[in-house]
Amino acid sequence: MSRTMLIAGNWKMNGLTADGKALAALVAAGSSEAGCDLLVCPPATLIGTVGAALAGSSVSLGAQDCHGAESGAHTGDVSAEMLADAGCGFVIVGHSERRADHGESDETVHAKAQAAHRAGLIAVICVGETEAERDAGQAEAVVAGQIGGSLPQNATAANTVIAYEPVWAIGTGRTPTAEDVQAMHSHMRATVAASHGGDFAGQVRLLYGGSVKPGNAAELMGLADVDGALVGGASLVAEDFLAIATHCP
Ligand code: 13P
Repeated sequence: MSRTMLIAGNWKMNGLTADGKALAALVAAGSSEAGCDLLVCPPATLIGTVGAALAGSSVSLGAQDCHGAESGAHTGDVSAEMLADAGCGFVIVGHSERRADHGESDETVHAKAQAAHRAGLIAVICVGETEAERDAGQAEAVVAGQIGGSLPQNATAANTVIAYEPVWAIGTGRTPTAEDVQAMHSHMRATVAASHGGDFAGQVRLLYGGSVKPGNAAELMGLADVDGALVGGASLVAEDFLAIATHCP
């Protein structure tokens, strides 16, 4: 089963209007060279600006979080329906920075993924172990538990992407070995095969995230069960983001 590779940029809490516009325009201009799907996820304030800069290109637009409810008294939150209305096709849910900074549980992430699906968005569900959990030999169990708790039962490979981001590899310049990444992705595919069936497991895209750079992208993107990358820091430099995309097999 062939899965189209996806290179996604998570800009996190970075960028004012002028920077976001310029970065998106450069990504759009270089996107025709990429042999894979491209996605950029700017901060909420830049969704309109970035959407306009990407118009006419094949680069998709996504957000970094959504609330589980459609609307209501949730000051400061943004619903999946609002994101869809603003032009997004994707939303990241359950990023480890939100799990840590906002105490998001698997149950919360599950509700957000369901909200994304309700609004017609593709949910990019993030999972990943801490360094202490890996050192304790619990990485696979932690990730399987997060998938079990966060992935809606009626998720499809068309409306869901799962990103493996070991917490200790985010923004640190450290990455697991290629063998460890492949082993985890293979384990994730087996986990979702057990819960969601073989067709889902064969078709769902599993991204790797955590210090992906142009220099390590070829090795990581060449792994059998890695279907793309969720890129943080390097996605803020158009040249680097596009260089990562050129490493898609
Ligand atoms: P870095 O690429 O900066 O390590 O961030 C990864 C990440 O958290 C993407 O969501």
